[in-house]
Amino acid sequence: MGAIVIDGAAMARQILGEQRDAALRLAALGRVPGLAVVLVGDDPASAVYVRAKERACHEAGVRTFDYRLPSTATEAELLQVIDTLNGDPQVHGILVQLPLPAHIGADSVLQRIDPAKDVDGFTWRSLGALLDGHALLAPCTPSGCMLMLERSGVPVAGRHAVVIGRSSIVGKPAALMLLERDATVTICHSRTPDLAAVTREADILVCAAGRPRMIAVDMVKPGAAVIDVGINRMQNGKLCGDVDYDAVRAKAGWITPVPGGVGPMTVAMVIANVITAAGRRAG
Ligand code: GUN
Repeated sequence: MGAIVIDGAAMARQILGEQRDAALRLAALGRVPGLAVVLVGDDPASAVYVRAKERACHEAGVRTFDYRLPSTATEAELLQVIDTLNGDPQVHGILVQLPLPAHIGADSVLQRIDPAKDVDGFTWRSLGALLDGHALLAPCTPSGCMLMLERSGVPVAGRHAVVIGRSSIVGKPAALMLLERDATVTICHSRTPDLAAVTREADILVCAAGRPRMIAVDMVKPGAAVIDVGINRMQNGKLCGDVDYDAVRAKAGWITPVPGGVGPMTVAMVIANVITAAGRRAG
């Protein structure tokens, strides 16, 4: 039999089409949704991600405002850019691509973003709202994971969800979202003993560890939904996830591929957040 492969690329295209309709409705009201993308330095992986987000914006009818700063830019200069964007009525979303150069404090920059424009969902205000079940703008990668489960008909309520990874960007918000949908949630991390014993109990397994193919087939419950957040570049240049895809696919009920799974959904959720932010601004 084998798992149903959740095609994140196709689902993301569908979502971008839906977002485009919403963007056109806002544009007709004179509110073309706008996203400011801030990239500091010349990290090649960040440049690739930023290009993907900007391309998706153009497909969905979202205007982009590009801010490219050299790696020598100071924290004060970056904060000045954020303040300007916070005050610009044409900018509904602000995205500061991470990682930032080591001499810039990511926290002080991210926390300067107006929570109403925080399309990454990284401000403490956004994360606190998510914790209390009143999401403002939710982090994009876990939102994408949840939408993949929902649109694929994976039951969540009452199921055991295991999340591997405890970052503020993916693991913790994913756990909160699963809890909000009435799953019983376990969070695992690098200090969890006997990880396999926990993952084997998972009806839903969200893996965001960043370790290539760490989820072997004997760590997966038959019929489980396996969501692979890992994007690891191998020595041969190819991308691979945190899950041993070929083997696990034969045993799981649902599985997401890498590439073409969670990655495109994350981009689509950025756009969805921009449209949401612009819609709120439009009243
Ligand atoms: N770098 C890696 N993932 C992300 C993300 O989701 N948002 C931003 N802004 N930077 C990232």
